Amino acid sequence: MKLWGGRFAKETSQLMDDFHSSISFDSRLAVQDITGSIAHARMLGQQGIIAKEDSEKIIAGLKTILEDAIMGNIEFSPHDEDIHMNVEVLLTNKIGAVGKKLHTGRSRNDQVCTDFKLYMRHRATEIRALEVSLMETVLDLAKKYFGKMMPGYTHLQQAQPIYFSHYLMSMFFAVSRDVKRLDNFLELHSELPLGSGAMAGSAFPYHRALVAKELGFNGVSPNSIDAVSHRDMMLEFEADLAIIANTMSRYAEDFVNWSTSEFGYLTLHDAFSSGSSMMPQKKNPDSMELIRGKSGRMLGNFSALYTLVKGAPLSYSRDLQEDKEPVFDSVHNVKVILRVMKEALESARFNFDKMHAKMLPALLATDLADLLVESGVPFRDAHHVVGSLVGEAARQGLEFTDLSDEAWASAGVPNVSQMKKTLTFEYSVSRRNIEGGTGPKSVKQQFVKADAILKKFKK
Ligand code: ARG
Repeated sequence: MKLWGGRFAKETSQLMDDFHSSISFDSRLAVQDITGSIAHARMLGQQGIIAKEDSEKIIAGLKTILEDAIMGNIEFSPHDEDIHMNVEVLLTNKIGAVGKKLHTGRSRNDQVCTDFKLYMRHRATEIRALEVSLMETVLDLAKKYFGKMMPGYTHLQQAQPIYFSHYLMSMFFAVSRDVKRLDNFLELHSELPLGSGAMAGSAFPYHRALVAKELGFNGVSPNSIDAVSHRDMMLEFEADLAIIANTMSRYAEDFVNWSTSEFGYLTLHDAFSSGSSMMPQKKNPDSMELIRGKSGRMLGNFSALYTLVKGAPLSYSRDLQEDKEPVFDSVHNVKVILRVMKEALESARFNFDKMHAKMLPALLATDLADLLVESGVPFRDAHHVVGSLVGEAARQGLEFTDLSDEAWASAGVPNVSQMKKTLTFEYSVSRRNIEGGTGPKSVKQQFVKADAILKKFKK
């Protein structure tokens, strides 16, 4: 007999049971479901909605089920449909008929929202911790390798000299925004749905604030229809996770490029690479390729959820049961992505000699134009002068710094030998101590900011 079977004269078909049962995936909510039920049962007893002794028996039973769930010792039954009914059946089997009082004053509609909300809040906190730990790794590396230079890129073409640490710090600050997004998420979605019932509110003297407090919510939802209907929390979580994966995918792409023999800037540890089944020489940067690749499914999960919820009638329809698997998938993959990125970076070798050797003199073209500006040439003219030198050199298969002093002078460069002496990579970065720039002082200033951010995040 189904828990909701009273109205029915016939059993559901096996096909229907398989179709609508969600226990195969929502058993992941077991801990949140049981914890929520313990708080609910305690409140029922305190409010005299059920007898105190009954409440105590229910709580004791739920606690043993919780231990079993944590140990992974429960075999859930597809016959009991979902995690909520599985727990109720387990409880009643354990403590007898008094277990049937647990569901007083609530519906699975407010229950599932409560469970899932708790789940997402827990996972957001764990993902946040992984992000902070990645930020620590990145900052440590940036500090350790302070002073090493590399070509900076736009359009994947060499653009300007930068410090390697400046590149790494770009990752630090990008991840810090991903953390702030999770913090916003945690702040916004902090209200308890329980007490909303199926959609109109519980008819019992349900002490919502008491349950909210025990479960760590900051308040109670202000409208019962909204509480059981809305899925913007899931959408926002998915979006935040998709953005995290997107951030990681861009660095992963750079690291894939850096791992090629053409670049040679990065050697991933064997532990984060794999080989080819056919070509014995291959060592492939699969860890980074998979980070890049998996970011696609995050958007897929977001789209699945968005499409599911779009135009869904208020308040609850069974469609909404489908909100969970995309979130579970994204949570799992984002966690792995963040752990792999951290450990791959920690164990990687950065080949600074290669980076330096690859730096082309043309990285200094902007600096020459700036020097001309300082000697009184309007920037647009200076740009043209340097452009003509670079173009001429390219036609001769040379670097613009290889052209003769006469060629520079006749293109319009004054004090050529002084200019040539001034133009070094060190000079270029030293000119960029502007806040946020790649200058040495600026990069050190970024370390100070980063230390402060980490301190705040870890409070
Ligand atoms: N398993 C369901 C879900 O995840 C629980 C809520 C079911 N409510 C209902 N009225 N059938 O959405």
